[in-house]
Amino acid sequence: MLRQAFLSMSNSRELQNVALHNRAARRFALRFVAGETLAQASRAIADLNKMGIKATFDQLGENVNSVEAANAAADSYIQILDKIVSTGIDSNVSLKLTQMGLDVDEEVCFRNVCRICERAKELNNFVRLDMESSSYTDRTLDMFRRLWHEAGYRNVGVVLQSYLYRTERDVHEMNDLGARVRLCKGAYNESEEVAYPKKSDVDANYARLTRLLLTEGNYPGIATHDSRLIEYTKKFAAARGIAPEKFEFQMLYGVRREIQTDLVQQGYNTRVYVPYGKEWYSYFMRRLAERPANVMFVLSNVVKR
Ligand code: FDA
Repeated sequence: MLRQAFLSMSNSRELQNVALHNRAARRFALRFVAGETLAQASRAIADLNKMGIKATFDQLGENVNSVEAANAAADSYIQILDKIVSTGIDSNVSLKLTQMGLDVDEEVCFRNVCRICERAKELNNFVRLDMESSSYTDRTLDMFRRLWHEAGYRNVGVVLQSYLYRTERDVHEMNDLGARVRLCKGAYNESEEVAYPKKSDVDANYARLTRLLLTEGNYPGIATHDSRLIEYTKKFAAARGIAPEKFEFQMLYGVRREIQTDLVQQGYNTRVYVPYGKEWYSYFMRRLAERPANVMFVLSNVVKR
């Protein structure tokens, strides 16, 4: 219930305006967001790198509604790629297709993502297409296929979500291509028509898909903070003789930091998703939806004030 309420609120423009001007919400959001500028996010990544953690940059923003905004977002990603080189930090980039203009004009979106993949290729870097709600799954995978087959990029990967019934089929397709997949549970409000309503089923599917990705995939990103699934992944890989270099664990900035450093110390590749920018509202609401304790923390701070 609470999860659904927060996910519905994540789409509200009115609430976004209120939250962006609320100091307590902003302060708490900064637990999950590495600042509002590229320089701040780069420093946060340099600090993660010092602990042996790799990163992926995410410039916050989704659902742009003009070609100019989509082009500007793509320009920012090119700046990020250049910043990675000039600062020497260890990071790739993650982006949302709706930020690149998917809802405005698919050709604009394709050209924007091609520009980013091209720059990343020149710099020997990698671009991950985040996965948005299920209304975008087909269009995201279609765009990925165009980037892979038509434009020939191999430095691009996708995200698949274990809460969707369809995902096993998508995992097989990506494994056959040799494309890199990040596996997550899924962060949007979905109907029972397309997604498992029960968390236990989402988790069981996550374990099943992890097995497929580890045995048949190309350097999968196991993106979860779920200790049971992390332990399961380690045990399964060890039992099958799959070396730690063959996959990586991925987590979100500010979530379960102790596990991030433990994994590095145990010799596992670990990457943290580092979002930054002024458009933190929807991202932040999805993080609140994932954990009721986060909501209580924000509410108690607002009440205290
Ligand atoms: P689960 O929600 O079961 O949480 C397990 C435990 O982790 C909790 O008990 C709690 O202790 C801790 N935890 C989880 N979330 C927390 C939070 N917000 N605050 C504090 N503690 C928390 N989704 C999507 O739909 N498309 C995408 O492209 C991505 N990309 C992505 C990248 C990376 C690197 C990660 C880690 C996650 C995503 N996600 C995503 C989000 C993902 O789908 C999912 O919503 C969250 O990771 C939470 O699910 P867990 O797997 O962590 O399990």
